[in-house]
Amino acid sequence: MVASAPRSARSRVRLTTEISDIAPETTTIRSLDWDRDRFDIEFSLENGTTYNSFLIKGEKVALVDTSHAKFRELYIDALNELIDPQDIDYLIISHTEPDHSGLVRDVLELNPDIIVVGAKVAIQFLENLVHQPFKSKVVKSGDRLELGNGHELEFVSAPNLHWPDTIFTYDHKTQTLFTCDAFGMHFCDDHTYDEDLDILEAEFRLYYDCLMAPNARSVLGAIKRIKELPEITTIATGHGPLLRYNIEELVGRYQDWSQTQAKATTTVGLFYVAGHGYGDQLAQAITTGITKTGVAVEIMDLRVAEPQEVRELVELSSAIVLGMPPQSGEVAENAAAAIGTILAAVNSKQNFGLFEVGGGNDEAVYPIRNRIREIGLVEKFEPIKIADEPTEAIYQLCEESGTDLGQWLTRDRTVKQMKALDTELDKALGRISGGLYIITAKKGDISSAMLASWVAQASSEPLGVSIAVAKDRAIESFLHIGDHFVLNALEEGKYQALMKHFLKRFAPGADRFADVTTYPATNGSPILAESLAYLECEVVSRMECPDHWIVYSIVTTGRVAKADALTAVHHRKVGNHY
Ligand code: FEO
Repeated sequence: MVASAPRSARSRVRLTTEISDIAPETTTIRSLDWDRDRFDIEFSLENGTTYNSFLIKGEKVALVDTSHAKFRELYIDALNELIDPQDIDYLIISHTEPDHSGLVRDVLELNPDIIVVGAKVAIQFLENLVHQPFKSKVVKSGDRLELGNGHELEFVSAPNLHWPDTIFTYDHKTQTLFTCDAFGMHFCDDHTYDEDLDILEAEFRLYYDCLMAPNARSVLGAIKRIKELPEITTIATGHGPLLRYNIEELVGRYQDWSQTQAKATTTVGLFYVAGHGYGDQLAQAITTGITKTGVAVEIMDLRVAEPQEVRELVELSSAIVLGMPPQSGEVAENAAAAIGTILAAVNSKQNFGLFEVGGGNDEAVYPIRNRIREIGLVEKFEPIKIADEPTEAIYQLCEESGTDLGQWLTRDRTVKQMKALDTELDKALGRISGGLYIITAKKGDISSAMLASWVAQASSEPLGVSIAVAKDRAIESFLHIGDHFVLNALEEGKYQALMKHFLKRFAPGADRFADVTTYPATNGSPILAESLAYLECEVVSRMECPDHWIVYSIVTTGRVAKADALTAVHHRKVGNHY
């Protein structure tokens, strides 16, 4: 069954709900948020998202998670259609972030006798969110809750996926594991399940990279615990399709990616207060930038950070990134104590970067910056200032600041790799030559560009090109499936000025097109006025190589400026360098 938002709401965003039975006495209410809405959630949402809630009717009734507040009317209507709220006994909170808990207060208003079930820290967080007394039951790994009629729920602790409050719930009768954020994806369509992995896998990977990779060790811990459960036939995620057809494959991918992350030899410790200001989204953008360079990030939430955990993370980190906590309120005391522990544990060989979160009553960034500098740490990006709601340009600044920091931390490894190839092989590989191109891309209000020479035609029907892009390039974020860009070919004998300009090291967030003449392509990306030819392209697939993405794109249109001129050729001496 599908319901739609009233016309007034739909004119802003398309919101619908879907109700489907997924197992005996188990129904999902999926809140379908069809349109991109970055500011509600952690990262760019090209394909919308869903917020999935579940109702289990044994002799007792349990509701697992609710929905985002923007679905208030639709969700409550759907819930009323399924059950009289007076008959709900338990509300299981997998995770208190507002996209799942935004309607907890509304549900409790309908039935104040509901017992809220969650991890200890989830119940604490919820007290701050709901601002009214409620009945609660704290659970931990291995605890069970009998609903009757065979539905025995077992809880699995999954801290940091993606806040410290997360629990999974396993129903022994239906072999369904409710995981909230874990194993989810931001993908909205009419399919309740993961039938077609081909169309989902890029979103599944992006979601993992943004949300789960910073907590890879916690992911491995959670996978170990769920492997101790009996068979799982459905993973009921909180975002996107539920997993039924590819469970082994997708859990395996989480395990492989997390093992790779956990092996990274360089780690950045990122500390901030989750749920405060725009901290989640900004931390996510910085983390994305850092992890692109192969550096691991471990995130710690200052609301609940224990001194010993803080010390351990600081000691294993090559750099500290800190989001400003609030000066007052519930979490200020714990956050201030944690910052005291950070300052006591850091050493002068470490690097750091600071960011504001736009929470309204945050600690001032400059006094903390001065204290860290006095200890001797080196600042690797300028404090990121947030005056208003962050723009796309701020997110780009965050991501590129993270990448700059990661590149700095891995500079020795990069030099070593460049020297590592056998000399003869290296020279032979250098005889592979390519043309010289500038890739230009625009997404919303932000743009990027890169000099490229690992470019080749890859198909003739349809016309397609492949481009190898290093994983730590800023423009990599503009080359995901469905993205558009322009491939500008440079002209032999006339390429030096453009090449010099685009080879420059740009500061995070800098405008790559300052002082360069461009005009817009039909796909919105800049065409360089000085280019010999241009092709408008759309990314249709990506293949992952150890340090590059091979981006395959179809070419939609193109033009040549000078019929008899030739493309500049890039001859190299060695193969381990561009
Ligand atoms: Fe989907 Fe972390 O909330």
